[in-house]
Amino acid sequence: MAHSVKRHLDVDADAYDVEIRRFIPHYDDMLVTGVELLAALAPPGARVLDLGGGTGALSAAVLDGLPQARVTLLDVDTAMLGEARRRLAPFGDRVEFREASFFDPLPAADAVVASLALHHVHDLGAKTDLYRAIHAALAPGGVFLNLDAAITEDPRLGALTFDRWAAHMAEHGITDAEARGHFAAWAGEDRYFALDEELAALRRAGFAEVECFWRRGGAAICCGLRT
Ligand SMILES: C[S@@+](CC[C@H](N)C(=O)[O-])C[C@H]1O[C@@H](n2cnc3c(N)ncnc32)[C@H](O)[C@@H]1O
Repeated sequence: MAHSVKRHLDVDADAYDVEIRRFIPHYDDMLVTGVELLAALAPPGARVLDLGGGTGALSAAVLDGLPQARVTLLDVDTAMLGEARRRLAPFGDRVEFREASFFDPLPAADAVVASLALHHVHDLGAKTDLYRAIHAALAPGGVFLNLDAAITEDPRLGALTFDRWAAHMAEHGITDAEARGHFAAWAGEDRYFALDEELAALRRAGFAEVECFWRRGGAAICCGLRT
C-alpha cells in the first residue's frame, strides 16, 4: 500500500503545513538553510528533483531562491501532491509533478533535495541503494542535499535528543505523553540513522565529497557532491 501522510501522521494534507511546525523543531530554519546551500552549490538554471516533496514547502523555497531553477516534485501521496499543485501554481511551467516513489527510476537532475522524506527508508542497505540511484541520476558536479532527522541509537544520547524534541512539541501544546505516543507510532514507519552512518552511506553510494552543514537537535542537512 502506498505511503499516506493521513494514515502515518494522522494529519490531513491541508493541515500539514501547520502541524509539521508543531511536530518538527527548526523546520523553517532547515528549509532556508537548505536553499542557501543549494544556491551556493548548484548552477543557476539547475534541474532540481525534490524527493517526497509533500505539500511543496521546500520546492517553493527553491523556486523562490533560485529564480532560474526548474523543479520536479515527486511524491506518492495524491492528497499531498494536490496541496503542492495549488501552492506551486504561480511558478507555472518551472515546476512539474510526479506521482511516483523515490524507489522508481529517477529523472536526470543537477540537484536532488529531500526534506523529512528519506527517513521512510527502514534499512541502511536500501537507503544506500537509494543514495546510489540519486548519485546516478545526478549530472557530473551535481549536488544532493538531504534535510532530515539523524539520531544516534546510543541510549543516553538518543534519549536526550528525543527529550529535546518533546520539549519543542510541549511549546506547541503537545503533552509529553502525546509526544512519546507520536514517537512510538512514527517508529512503525520511520527510521533514523546516526549522522556518521548517513555520511558513510553517502560515501559508499559514490559521493566523492560529503559534509554535514547544519545540525539542530536531531535534524541535519547532509550534502553529497558528485564529481
Ligand atoms: C513528512 S512529509 C515531508 C514533506 C515535505 N518534504 C516537507 O518537508 O514538508 C514526507 C513525504 O514523503 C512522502 N513519501 C514517503 N514515502 C515515499 C516514497 N517511497 N516515495 C515518494 N514519496 C514518499 C510522503 O508522501 C510525504 O509527502
